[in-house]
Amino acid sequence: MEPTITNAAAWFESDTSVGEIVVTENEIKDKIAELGQRITQDYSGRTLLIVGVLKGALLFVADLIRSIDLPVEYDFMAVSSYGVTTKTSGVVRIVKDLDVDLTDKDVLIVEDVIDSGLTLSYLVRNLRARNARSVCVCALLVKEGLQPANLEITYTGFVIPPIFVIGYGLDLAEKYRNLPFVAIYNG
Ligand code: IMP
Ligand code: MG
Repeated sequence: MEPTITNAAAWFESDTSVGEIVVTENEIKDKIAELGQRITQDYSGRTLLIVGVLKGALLFVADLIRSIDLPVEYDFMAVSSYGVTTKTSGVVRIVKDLDVDLTDKDVLIVEDVIDSGLTLSYLVRNLRARNARSVCVCALLVKEGLQPANLEITYTGFVIPPIFVIGYGLDLAEKYRNLPFVAIYNG
Protein backbone atom coordinates (compact mmCIF):
# COMPACT_ATOMS: atom_id res chain seq x y z
CA MET A 1 0.00 0.00 0.00
CA GLU A 2 1.17 3.54 -0.76
CA PRO A 3 2.10 5.49 2.36
CA THR A 4 -0.44 8.18 3.15
CA ILE A 5 0.94 11.63 3.73
CA THR A 6 -0.99 13.22 6.55
CA ASN A 7 -1.02 16.85 7.51
CA ALA A 8 -0.06 17.03 11.19
CA ALA A 9 -1.42 20.56 11.43
CA ALA A 10 -4.94 19.80 10.31
CA TRP A 11 -6.55 18.75 13.58
CA PHE A 12 -7.59 22.29 14.50
CA GLU A 13 -9.18 23.22 11.20
CA SER A 14 -12.70 22.38 12.34
CA ASP A 15 -12.18 23.94 15.79
CA THR A 16 -13.99 27.27 15.77
CA SER A 17 -12.19 28.41 18.93
CA VAL A 18 -8.99 28.77 16.89
CA GLY A 19 -9.38 32.31 15.60
CA GLU A 20 -7.41 34.63 13.37
CA ILE A 21 -3.68 33.94 13.15
CA VAL A 22 -1.67 36.66 14.88
CA VAL A 23 1.81 35.31 14.14
CA THR A 24 2.37 32.74 11.39
CA GLU A 25 4.73 29.77 11.51
CA ASN A 26 7.10 31.49 9.07
CA GLU A 27 7.09 34.75 11.00
CA ILE A 28 8.06 32.80 14.13
CA LYS A 29 10.88 31.05 12.25
CA ASP A 30 12.28 34.30 10.84
CA LYS A 31 12.04 36.07 14.18
CA ILE A 32 13.84 33.26 16.00
CA ALA A 33 16.67 33.37 13.43
CA GLU A 34 16.95 37.14 14.02
CA LEU A 35 16.84 36.85 17.83
CA GLY A 36 19.39 34.01 17.68
CA GLN A 37 21.81 36.22 15.76
CA ARG A 38 21.44 39.09 18.21
CA ILE A 39 21.90 36.81 21.21
CA THR A 40 24.94 35.18 19.56
CA GLN A 41 26.58 38.59 19.16
CA ASP A 42 25.63 39.88 22.60
CA TYR A 43 26.71 36.79 24.54
CA SER A 44 29.88 35.90 22.68
CA GLY A 45 32.59 34.93 25.19
CA ARG A 46 30.11 34.75 28.07
CA THR A 47 28.50 31.81 29.90
CA LEU A 48 24.93 31.82 28.68
CA LEU A 49 22.30 30.01 30.70
CA ILE A 50 18.82 29.99 29.19
CA VAL A 51 16.08 29.74 31.81
CA GLY A 52 12.78 28.71 30.23
CA VAL A 53 9.52 29.31 32.04
CA LEU A 54 7.33 26.20 31.89
CA LYS A 55 5.20 25.18 30.27
CA GLY A 56 4.50 27.84 27.68
CA ALA A 57 8.08 28.65 26.71
CA LEU A 58 9.02 25.05 25.88
CA LEU A 59 8.62 25.34 22.10
CA PHE A 60 10.26 28.76 21.95
CA VAL A 61 13.26 27.59 24.01
CA ALA A 62 13.67 24.48 21.86
CA ASP A 63 13.78 26.52 18.65
CA LEU A 64 15.72 29.49 20.02
CA ILE A 65 18.65 27.51 21.44
CA ARG A 66 19.26 25.98 18.01
CA SER A 67 19.53 29.41 16.43
CA ILE A 68 22.18 30.57 18.92
CA ASP A 69 25.70 29.91 17.62
CA LEU A 70 27.32 29.58 21.05
CA PRO A 71 27.66 26.91 23.71
CA VAL A 72 24.41 27.18 25.67
CA GLU A 73 23.14 25.64 28.90
CA TYR A 74 19.45 25.54 29.62
CA ASP A 75 17.21 24.87 32.57
CA PHE A 76 13.55 25.36 33.41
CA MET A 77 11.45 26.88 36.14
CA ALA A 78 7.75 26.49 36.74
CA VAL A 79 5.83 29.17 38.55
CA SER A 80 2.24 29.62 39.50
CA SER A 81 0.35 32.70 40.53
CA TYR A 82 -1.73 32.66 43.65
CA GLY A 83 -5.44 33.27 43.19
CA VAL A 84 -8.21 31.79 41.14
CA THR A 85 -8.82 34.55 38.60
CA THR A 86 -7.26 34.70 35.15
CA LYS A 87 -5.47 37.92 36.12
CA THR A 88 -2.01 37.54 37.65
CA SER A 89 -1.91 38.79 41.22
CA GLY A 90 1.84 39.40 41.22
CA VAL A 91 2.33 36.94 44.05
CA VAL A 92 4.23 34.11 42.46
CA ARG A 93 5.05 30.69 43.83
CA ILE A 94 7.96 28.64 42.45
CA VAL A 95 6.57 25.19 41.62
CA LYS A 96 9.80 23.86 40.08
CA ASP A 97 13.07 25.56 40.81
CA LEU A 98 16.30 25.49 38.81
CA ASP A 99 18.71 22.59 39.19
CA VAL A 100 21.80 24.67 38.42
CA ASP A 101 23.69 27.28 40.42
CA LEU A 102 23.60 30.78 38.92
CA THR A 103 26.87 32.11 40.33
CA ASP A 104 28.73 33.98 37.55
CA LYS A 105 26.27 32.87 34.86
CA ASP A 106 24.74 35.19 32.29
CA VAL A 107 21.09 34.28 32.62
CA LEU A 108 18.55 34.83 29.87
CA ILE A 109 14.98 34.23 31.01
CA VAL A 110 12.87 33.02 28.08
CA GLU A 111 9.11 33.56 28.29
CA ASP A 112 6.28 32.83 25.91
CA VAL A 113 4.17 35.90 26.58
CA ILE A 114 4.35 38.88 28.88
CA ASP A 115 0.95 40.18 29.89
CA SER A 116 0.96 42.28 33.09
CA GLY A 117 4.67 41.55 33.51
CA LEU A 118 4.17 40.67 37.16
CA THR A 119 5.39 37.07 36.82
CA LEU A 120 8.52 38.22 35.09
CA SER A 121 9.25 41.10 37.45
CA TYR A 122 9.21 38.57 40.26
CA LEU A 123 11.46 36.12 38.39
CA VAL A 124 14.03 38.77 37.50
CA ARG A 125 14.23 39.91 41.13
CA ASN A 126 14.45 36.33 42.36
CA LEU A 127 17.24 35.29 39.96
CA ARG A 128 19.22 38.52 40.43
CA ALA A 129 19.42 37.70 44.13
CA ARG A 130 21.30 34.46 43.32
CA ASN A 131 24.63 36.00 42.28
CA ALA A 132 24.13 35.67 38.55
CA ARG A 133 26.48 37.90 36.57
CA SER A 134 23.55 39.24 34.57
CA VAL A 135 19.83 38.57 34.17
CA CYS A 136 18.06 39.59 30.95
CA VAL A 137 14.70 38.75 29.42
CA CYS A 138 13.66 37.37 26.03
CA ALA A 139 9.94 37.15 25.29
CA LEU A 140 8.31 35.83 22.14
CA LEU A 141 5.19 37.94 22.67
CA VAL A 142 4.66 41.15 24.59
CA LYS A 143 1.14 42.47 25.04
CA GLU A 144 0.88 46.14 24.26
CA GLY A 145 1.00 48.65 27.09
CA LEU A 146 0.46 46.42 30.09
CA GLN A 147 3.88 46.15 31.73
CA PRO A 148 5.33 48.24 34.51
CA ALA A 149 7.80 50.79 33.14
CA ASN A 150 10.71 49.34 35.11
CA LEU A 151 10.45 45.90 33.46
CA GLU A 152 13.21 45.81 30.90
CA ILE A 153 12.72 43.32 28.07
CA THR A 154 15.97 42.99 26.15
CA TYR A 155 14.68 40.76 23.35
CA THR A 156 11.09 41.03 22.12
CA GLY A 157 9.70 38.82 19.36
CA PHE A 158 6.35 40.43 18.61
CA VAL A 159 4.26 43.13 20.22
CA ILE A 160 0.60 42.07 20.09
CA PRO A 161 -2.67 43.68 21.20
CA PRO A 162 -3.88 42.80 24.72
CA ILE A 163 -5.96 39.82 23.63
CA PHE A 164 -5.93 36.16 24.71
CA VAL A 165 -3.90 34.06 22.30
CA ILE A 166 -3.16 30.34 21.90
CA GLY A 167 -0.62 28.19 20.10
CA TYR A 168 3.15 27.72 19.88
CA GLY A 169 3.25 26.77 23.57
CA LEU A 170 0.39 28.96 24.74
CA ASP A 171 -2.65 27.19 26.08
CA LEU A 172 -6.22 27.52 27.13
CA ALA A 173 -6.72 24.88 29.85
CA GLU A 174 -3.69 22.90 28.52
CA LYS A 175 -5.09 22.74 24.98
CA TYR A 176 -3.72 24.27 21.75
CA ARG A 177 -0.05 24.31 22.81
CA ASN A 178 0.97 22.37 19.70
CA LEU A 179 -0.48 24.74 17.15
CA PRO A 180 2.47 25.78 14.95
CA PHE A 181 1.32 29.43 14.97
CA VAL A 182 -0.16 31.95 17.42
CA ALA A 183 -3.87 32.63 17.02
CA ILE A 184 -6.64 34.54 18.75
CA TYR A 185 -8.78 32.38 21.04
CA ASN A 186 -12.43 32.70 20.15
CA GLY A 187 -14.04 32.00 23.51
P1 IMP B 1 1.77 38.10 33.52
O1 IMP B 1 2.35 37.88 34.88
O2 IMP B 1 0.45 38.84 33.58
O3 IMP B 1 2.73 38.78 32.58
O4 IMP B 1 1.34 36.68 32.99
C1 IMP B 1 2.13 35.96 32.15
C2 IMP B 1 1.71 34.50 32.09
O5 IMP B 1 0.28 34.36 31.94
C3 IMP B 1 2.33 33.87 30.87
O6 IMP B 1 3.56 33.28 31.17
C4 IMP B 1 1.28 32.87 30.43
O7 IMP B 1 1.51 31.64 31.08
C5 IMP B 1 -0.03 33.45 30.89
N1 IMP B 1 -0.69 34.19 29.78
C6 IMP B 1 -0.80 35.53 29.67
N2 IMP B 1 -1.45 35.88 28.54
C7 IMP B 1 -1.75 34.73 27.90
C8 IMP B 1 -2.43 34.43 26.65
O8 IMP B 1 -2.86 35.30 25.89
N3 IMP B 1 -2.55 33.11 26.35
C9 IMP B 1 -2.08 32.11 27.16
N4 IMP B 1 -1.44 32.35 28.31
C10 IMP B 1 -1.28 33.64 28.70
MG1 MG C 1 4.26 31.42 30.77
